[in-house]
Amino acid sequence: MSKMDTVRFFQVKPAIHYGIGAISEIGENNFERVCIVTDEGMVKFGLLKMVTDVLDAKGIKYHVFSDVEPDPSTEIVEKGLTHILMEKPDALIALGGGSSIDSAKAIIYYCYHFKEMFFGKEYIKKPYFIALPTTAGTGSEVTEYAVITDKKNNTKIPLTDTLMMPDAAILDPKLIESVPAGATAATGMDVLTHAIESYVSTSNNPFSRCYSAKAAELVFKSLYKCYKDGHDLEAKASMQIASCMAGIAFNSGGLGITHSLAHAIGAQWHIPHGLANAIVMPYVVAFNGRNERADYLYSRLLHSMGRLIDDGKTAPETFVRMIFELSASMNIPLTLKEKGIEAADYQGARDTILKKAMADVCTTTNPVQPTIEELGAVLDMVYGGCHS
Ligand SMILES: NC(=O)c1ccc[n+]([C@@H]2O[C@H](COP(=O)([O-])OP(=O)(O)OC[C@H]3O[C@@H](n4cnc5c(N)ncnc54)[C@H](O)[C@@H]3O)[C@@H](O)[C@H]2O)c1
Ligand SMILES: [Zn+2]
Repeated sequence: MSKMDTVRFFQVKPAIHYGIGAISEIGENNFERVCIVTDEGMVKFGLLKMVTDVLDAKGIKYHVFSDVEPDPSTEIVEKGLTHILMEKPDALIALGGGSSIDSAKAIIYYCYHFKEMFFGKEYIKKPYFIALPTTAGTGSEVTEYAVITDKKNNTKIPLTDTLMMPDAAILDPKLIESVPAGATAATGMDVLTHAIESYVSTSNNPFSRCYSAKAAELVFKSLYKCYKDGHDLEAKASMQIASCMAGIAFNSGGLGITHSLAHAIGAQWHIPHGLANAIVMPYVVAFNGRNERADYLYSRLLHSMGRLIDDGKTAPETFVRMIFELSASMNIPLTLKEKGIEAADYQGARDTILKKAMADVCTTTNPVQPTIEELGAVLDMVYGGCHS
């Protein structure tokens, strides 16, 4: 059957305001009461003040919920939900990295479904939802996904609903200027993982591939510059756009087993999401690359990025080298062992990680459906490197 026989859907939803000064957009609506969902880091780094200064200047009232923690838990979302139910804001602003934006999304999701138990849909008014990402990053500002952690079972819970898609995304490079170098590296590698996985996924399409390729190109051009000089706002603006584009790409194209393994590894050892992806990704590219169709897609991606395949090598091998080099240049460990995970600890968690990764929704769109034994072989390399 030709692909043209299937009707598919692609949409870019949020209005995107970008560039230095874009933050002032939040004052351009006649909001009466705003709720800001954020974390303590945003208070400490003065980013919350940048937002409240704009609201104060416009005389807009606001309430701040700043209890979000990295990898937000169901308990944090529950707490945020009571704030929203009491405050009844006409706009909700998520200020922070993926953790704050995902928390705000989950709050909207549960708030809406809670109200649905008592009222008809026509009586439920969703607050206008603005996402201000402070990392470049998850791309959460343009996706309908949120990841919440069930701390009791060390498991990440993915939520998907168009309800959670922001109405507006504001990309102001000033908001990511204060990100420390290590977090810049990790979150930037998350962008690269979104770009590469969505390009080769089984749900990739002409629209998503276009965004994936541009995002990957921008990461190789700008991420190291951001890592070296946190005040290089041109490079930071470029990474913000890459992050947003990669988000648009995977929202439609899906992801793959780098994310499946990274979700389980991140939950097991509390390794930041981007860092887990950076460690896992090259081994997954090598695994997928043995498949003819995936190999072809990796070579098309390199071509779209204006890159050549290394002499005497394949496209996946070229990507593996490029990813290892980029990671090493930013002091990212190349294996879990290098990250400091003990062998006994790894062996103890291996089965749990594999089971969770096999069941992860991202596995369904990986270009190759792995058996648990194959995924185990990939995971062993993620732990100990190519010679483990
Ligand atoms: N919804 C999606 O589509 C999606 C996609 C990928 C990942 N995620 C989720 O996003 C979360 C990770 O988000 P993240 O990587 O953006 O990190 P994060 O939001 O967890 O933030 C990490 C740390 O960086 C700090 N920080 C953030 N911005 C800063 C800034 N400008 N200056 C100084 N410090 C700053 C935060 O205060 C926090 O302590 C994970 O829970 C992951 O599962 C969601
Ligand atoms: Zn990710």
